[in-house]
Amino acid sequence: MNKNKKIRIINLPKIEDERGNLSFIEEKNHIPFKIKRSYWIYDVPGGECRGSHAFKETEEFIVALSGSFDIILHDGYEVKKFSLNRSYYGLYIPRMTWRTIENFSTNSLALILASTPYINADYIRNFNQFLAYKKR
Ligand code: TYD
Repeated sequence: MNKNKKIRIINLPKIEDERGNLSFIEEKNHIPFKIKRSYWIYDVPGGECRGSHAFKETEEFIVALSGSFDIILHDGYEVKKFSLNRSYYGLYIPRMTWRTIENFSTNSLALILASTPYINADYIRNFNQFLAYKKR
């Protein structure tokens, strides 16, 4: 498998400044795909979780712009948990990865960059179906 397309934390540039810090993301440079869509998850009530699905084609990069949350990933073989709580790094999630986002802190803000436009047909929402797809 292409190493570039593996689950991993990617550190972003951090320009430290007395006036406040600045970070940025460039497609193909910091993350291994072309950005076709950005969306964000916010105002999550305590105890709620989001996601719990996989994408057939979409790759994602998730940054905790504010607050913190946990991302639980299943690649079809094992589970990995990542806690995001800084705005100068994010988690790269390749296609065909089951993902759940949970444990959102108050006022947390998750920025998600995606490699595709929103396509409902790209979702796999049933975990057993996901596992079956992985074994194809
Ligand atoms: P969904 O991806 O299921 O949210 P989560 O992964 O957090 O469970 O999306 C929730 C709803 O929002 C769903 O009806 C589709 C819609 N939606 C869009 O219209 N465009 C988008 O880019 C996204 C991510 C969701």
